[in-house]
Amino acid sequence: MQYENILVEIHGKVGLITLNRPAALNALNDKLMDELGLALQSFDGDDDIGCIIITGSEKAFAAGADIGAMASYTYMDVYKGDYITRNWEQIRSVRKPVIAAVAGYALGGGCELAMMCDFIIAADTAKFGQPEIKLGIIPGAGGTQRLPRAVSKAKAMDLCLTARMMDAAEAERAGLVSRIVAADKLHEEALAAATVIANMSLPMVMMVKESINRAYETTLAEGVQFERRLFHSTFATADQKEGMQAFIEKRAPHFKNS
Ligand code: HXC
Repeated sequence: MQYENILVEIHGKVGLITLNRPAALNALNDKLMDELGLALQSFDGDDDIGCIIITGSEKAFAAGADIGAMASYTYMDVYKGDYITRNWEQIRSVRKPVIAAVAGYALGGGCELAMMCDFIIAADTAKFGQPEIKLGIIPGAGGTQRLPRAVSKAKAMDLCLTARMMDAAEAERAGLVSRIVAADKLHEEALAAATVIANMSLPMVMMVKESINRAYETTLAEGVQFERRLFHSTFATADQKEGMQAFIEKRAPHFKNS
């Protein structure tokens, strides 16, 4: 498949997607988002891929939805055509883990896209923000919903209302990013983390993702019950037998993803 706005590579068992509209700081237009959706679907359905990374350039992960494309839209354009946001939630349907490797700006839709990923590894140059209010709009792809869950109501209000940017250190303190790495090591570190995940048992990886995501959608009691049922089901897998046998035999496990 030939893409115009993204680059797609495979490194071992890791699928790497690089947003690639450098002249516009990877501003997210519908074409780019369609291509991103297709690439994610393709990696999700590929048995040889165990983890996916989305990244951008040194200067920008993505500086938001494409303001030039949006500027002349009317209410009916965006409502009927579902422009700008039409396939964004599709990212959440990917069952394999998706890591956002963020350097530079992750603003507006760029920050929202990073938050749709399962976790964020940030370069020390990363800057996060929801500056939509300066454009006379509000976040439209989960910024007002996922940000308070990630960083607290106070910080989400601060960022969405003042439009200020948060640097990598503040984002890590607030819990938005899982780790910060040197900018020139971002790809190496993200690839290393993704490779560790891709070498685990894929069904276990998928269950962990499903179960942690359930924590955001349900009560604690129901979430714990959901986790327990998944935990029980792991004992029906060959990978549970192999993982425990390998520990007992003091060797590395060879998971068969079954
Ligand atoms: C379209 C964009 C863009 C964007 C940058 N560019 N962000 N084009 N949409 N979101 C373009 C600029 O127009 C410029 O093009 C080129 O990228 C380089 O940007 P500069 O502004 O010259 O760079 P710099 O001075 O370094 O400033 C970087 C910046 C600034 C601070 C990131 O570009 C900026 O504030 N961008 C907008 C950020 C923003 O408001 N994002 C939220 C968008 S709304 P030319 O052709 O002039 O070189 C949104 C809603 C989501 O995301 C809704 C749900 C999906």
